[in-house]
Amino acid sequence: MKDAERASKTFDKIAQHFDKTRNRPWDEVVEFLKEIEGRVIDLGCGNGRHSLAAKNLGLDFVCLDASIKLLKIARKKTENEGIYVRSGLKKLPFKDDSFDNSIYIAAVHHLSNNRVKSLEESKRILKSGGKILISSWAREQDRWDLEGNESDINVPWNKPDGTVVDRYYHLYRLDELANDVEKSGLKVLRKFRSKGNNYVIAQKN
Ligand SMILES: C[S@@+](CC[C@H](N)C(=O)[O-])C[C@H]1O[C@@H](n2cnc3c(N)ncnc32)[C@H](O)[C@@H]1O
Repeated sequence: MKDAERASKTFDKIAQHFDKTRNRPWDEVVEFLKEIEGRVIDLGCGNGRHSLAAKNLGLDFVCLDASIKLLKIARKKTENEGIYVRSGLKKLPFKDDSFDNSIYIAAVHHLSNNRVKSLEESKRILKSGGKILISSWAREQDRWDLEGNESDINVPWNKPDGTVVDRYYHLYRLDELANDVEKSGLKVLRKFRSKGNNYVIAQKN
């Protein structure tokens, strides 16, 4: 099954509960949004909590996700003031140089392959000088029960009705994430770990 199809099925199944548990935007993302201007795309927007933060800061925003249920929640949360696009993350349905800046939060780690290709696409749709904030769950956390170099796992989501939905993760180490960003042709400006997540801020030349 393709990653976008799998994400759509997985996240549609957990959308409502996921939304209830993801109310607040992450501070690291809000700090980034405060420093940018213009039109931002939220890649893998989920329930739109970070697009809402962008809206509240006066930015124009586009929400993109494979999950139709999460996109609907995002649309409602952001009062239909953005543009809402259902798409996978490996081929983005926009012309070159379409966006001033971009956020790609906790989504690239759901791709089982072609992660660099997805980052290349993220670069392609950015304007020259545009910045992107990318985050992923950190492989370096103690919470994972992993053997050796293992980094691809399924993490269960436990719904209140007792059903369990598996989510695929590629757990990036910080340097590995920064290397993949470099491979895409983006220039890494900063890399850091915060609260269990790895972050890279990069720029298109
Ligand atoms: C963990 S959520 C993060 C949502 C949001 N960025 C946030 O920080 O709250 C991951 C999101 O990425 C989306 N996603 C995962 N794989 C995808 C793919 N291949 N194509 C499009 N969206 C995908 C999921 O549907 C989900 O909404």
